[in-house]
Amino acid sequence: MRIEKLNILFVCLGNICRSPMAEGLFLAHRRNAGLDDLIEVDSAGTSGWHVGELADPRMQETAKKHGVDLVSRSRKLVEADYQLFDYIIVMDKQNLRDAEDLMSLVNSPKAKVELIREYDDIDAGQDVPDPYFGGKQGFEHVYTMLDRSTKSFLDYLVQEHKLDS
Ligand code: 4NP
Repeated sequence: MRIEKLNILFVCLGNICRSPMAEGLFLAHRRNAGLDDLIEVDSAGTSGWHVGELADPRMQETAKKHGVDLVSRSRKLVEADYQLFDYIIVMDKQNLRDAEDLMSLVNSPKAKVELIREYDDIDAGQDVPDPYFGGKQGFEHVYTMLDRSTKSFLDYLVQEHKLDS
């Protein structure tokens, strides 16, 4: 059985819409799987535009409707994250470029940087679209694809790292 915890960081642009939702859903899946003691979870943004803010009220409302609480506050992705986290999981290809650019400045990074929808059974490899400037429906859409993808990512981790509840 694994002693050291796995550390997972979800990343988007503002860290107020997509990555807090990914974090909240992953936490719920982690709890359901009985793996609270084996995995740590956090989220961050490639920009520092909303540092200190709670999730966007529209994302919070969507999450609440589905029984998920979003409690984290926005912070910026920093170089130290690449040495602390095992996985840095981004929402879209622009995040991927930005996260890889920052990683290139880091000595011996530990983190694997990946797109969350590489783990989606539907339209694998696509972006999670940024809902910030759109309507309510966009937030629901983000919830649905992140619910699927975060569950499938957790299933992958359980297999890959032989996690046992
Ligand atoms: P997120 O959404 O990257 O999913 O948190 C956004 C939040 C804020 C902005 C853009 C996207 N913004 O331009 O302030």
